[in-house]
Amino acid sequence: MKDILQQLETQRAEARLGGGEKRIEAQHAKGKLTARERIELLLDEGSFEEFDMFKAHRCTEFGMEESRPYGDGVITGWGTVNGRQVYVFSQDFTVFGGSLSETHAEKICKIMDMAVQNGAPVIGLNDSGGARIQEGVASLAGYAEVFQRNIMASGVVPQISVIMGPCAGGAVYSPAMTDFIFMVRDTSYMFVTGPDVVKTVTNEIVTAEELGGASTHTRKSSVADGAFQDDVEAMTEVRRLVDFLPASNREKAPVRPFFDDVNRVEESLDTLIPDNPNQPYDMKELIHKVADEGDFYEIQEDFAKNIITGFIRLEGSTVGIVANQPMVLAGCLDIDSSRKAARFVRFCDAFEIPILTFVDVPGFLPGTGQEYGGVIKHGAKLLFAYGEATVPKVTVITRKAYGGAYDVMASKHLRGDFNYAWPTAEIAVMGAKGAVEILYRSELADREKIAQRTQDYEDRFANPFVAAERGFIDEVIQPRSTRRRVARAFASLRGKKLQNPWKKHDNIPL
Ligand code: HXC
Repeated sequence: MKDILQQLETQRAEARLGGGEKRIEAQHAKGKLTARERIELLLDEGSFEEFDMFKAHRCTEFGMEESRPYGDGVITGWGTVNGRQVYVFSQDFTVFGGSLSETHAEKICKIMDMAVQNGAPVIGLNDSGGARIQEGVASLAGYAEVFQRNIMASGVVPQISVIMGPCAGGAVYSPAMTDFIFMVRDTSYMFVTGPDVVKTVTNEIVTAEELGGASTHTRKSSVADGAFQDDVEAMTEVRRLVDFLPASNREKAPVRPFFDDVNRVEESLDTLIPDNPNQPYDMKELIHKVADEGDFYEIQEDFAKNIITGFIRLEGSTVGIVANQPMVLAGCLDIDSSRKAARFVRFCDAFEIPILTFVDVPGFLPGTGQEYGGVIKHGAKLLFAYGEATVPKVTVITRKAYGGAYDVMASKHLRGDFNYAWPTAEIAVMGAKGAVEILYRSELADREKIAQRTQDYEDRFANPFVAAERGFIDEVIQPRSTRRRVARAFASLRGKKLQNPWKKHDNIPL
């Protein structure tokens, strides 16, 4: 009996070694942790329960039967993050380059099925050379099985991908269908076709980093939602994100203890808006000053900076933030910002996370680039996302809310529950200058008259009261009391029940 127990330990030790000491050293030499070390950092200490430690591939091509390491290049199981259950898979680059075989895919599929059944997030740590070349179509089939599960799990449990090494070819499409993708700087890349193929087909010469590194995907393509310095920071930050999220669409996000006064008055907000309406200010200051303990988890920080998205807590409960940023492009909506915010709003709605919107938007960005790029369709994404969302929606207009962008940004007309405005709000079809130039074109030569017309327009429209008269704004509030007002608004909406008419699914302008 003792021998058998000892044998189990020996087999476990062998499995834990993955591709062996040498390959582990090589992994470390690249500045990367091993698949197991990553799991240890991601999960609460001692909480990991592994599945399929002894699973091995069944391939007999190319002499593969000679090498059947335990685990087959992926470590799978479940554990906890600050006491809450998550499922995890971590690809082991030391075993066949973390390449995905039929059995490797089966292991991933098993924990995805359990995650959906039991209602817990799936976190995938990707570090793989792609399809296991020796297995051919069996490997491709394995990928497709994972893809299908990504699709079925979407909107049911949060799915988070962290790219911590290569992720190339069709393999990118599994992370692409998850809710959040994070990358590690300098050691990870994602592309559909690598630099060699690109050079052959288009004659472009690029490095893997330029083509699909963290900087490319967080700034240019927006494929990734964030980038981290190294594996340790990546795991720490993913833990922080998990704390904001519900375990599934059957549960509310966790309510965390908070140590901040919900009635906290922020006098400095009374002077946040500059006297000159064309001068920018930092909308992030407002977000930090409203949030519990000033804690803000930003999503897509480096892309479409004219709109800000991310999570805060109010009275310990998660709230999704969408806010125009006057510091970039004057806070205009454009193709990129509409896409970014629309996806975020839909995530929040799928997982019952209330949405707080801060508005300072002078309209949509003009230009051929925008029109040819389809700003009509892309802008409609955000409009559609807000309009279909049934979660509690609280909106605060701080300054400009012009034209169609006023409607789009969680207005009363898109079922906003609480629509507040600061006294500095200007809600109109457009700014005074543009309006006067259209209405009084024949008087344009007379500068004095135009100045008077502009003043008249500003007096009439550059305020929140016209909208408040109609009930489109529920209340004009003091900036300094914003935290208390929005926290009370969300508290009053905890019992909100709103259902859209039955449909198979909608047809959002993709
Ligand atoms: C089998 C693989 C492998 C693969 C790497 N290895 N990729 N084994 N199938 N796809 C093995 C190597 O043979 C090597 O084994 C070990 O992993 C480490 O690989 P190295 O090349 O030594 O590492 P490195 O120099 O860091 O280069 C990593 C790499 C490179 C850039 C990922 O290995 C590579 O280009 N691999 C092929 C990538 C690829 O073309 N995959 C298919 C993509 S198409 P030893 O025994 O020497 O340690 C695809 C389709 C998905 O994935 C379709 C979904 C629909």
